[in-house]
Amino acid sequence: MRVEFTVNGRRESVDVEPRRTLADVLREELGLTGTHLGCEHGVCGVCTVLVDGGAVRACLMFAVQADGSSVTTVEGMAAEDGAMHPLQRAFCDHHGLQCGFCTPGMLMSALDLLHRVPPPSRQHIREELSGNICRCTGYSGIVDAVEAAARELNSLSEAD
Ligand code: FES
Ligand code: FES
Repeated sequence: MRVEFTVNGRRESVDVEPRRTLADVLREELGLTGTHLGCEHGVCGVCTVLVDGGAVRACLMFAVQADGSSVTTVEGMAAEDGAMHPLQRAFCDHHGLQCGFCTPGMLMSALDLLHRVPPPSRQHIREELSGNICRCTGYSGIVDAVEAAARELNSLSEAD
C-alpha cells in the first residue's frame, strides 16, 4: 500500500506491506534510525515519535495508519541550522543520558508533555515519563533536564 505522510516537515511517499510498523518504515525505508527499537511490544518507550503532535509507540502503529499524518522523529527536533532543541541541550547539561539508547524516546515523550503542559511539575514529569525505561541514568538527570527545558521554553514564551 502507498503511504503518503509528512516526516520532519518533508513529504514522503512509500510503498509498504500493511503488516509493517511505523518504526520499521521510519528506520528501514526512510533511514531515520534515531527512532530506536527495544521491546517491540509497547513497554519500553524507545520507539516513541510524535504523530500529529501526540506521542505514540511507533512499534505498535502500522505505517499505513500514519497515512496523511505529520510525523516528528528525534531527527526533526533540531533547528534547520543544526542548533539543538532546548530539550536536547538540557539533556546534555543535566546528565540526562549515558548510553543514549532510551534518549530519542525520552526526548519525544518530553516534547509531547511540554507541548501540552507548560511548565509541568516535577511529579508530573515523572508520571509522564514513567512509560519510558532507562537502564543507565537513574532518571534524576532526565527529570532535571525536562524541568530545565520547561523553564527555558516557558520564559521564552512569556517574552514573546
Ligand atoms: Fe516500542 Fe519498546 S520498542 S515500546
Ligand atoms: Fe542508557 Fe537511558 S541512557 S538506557
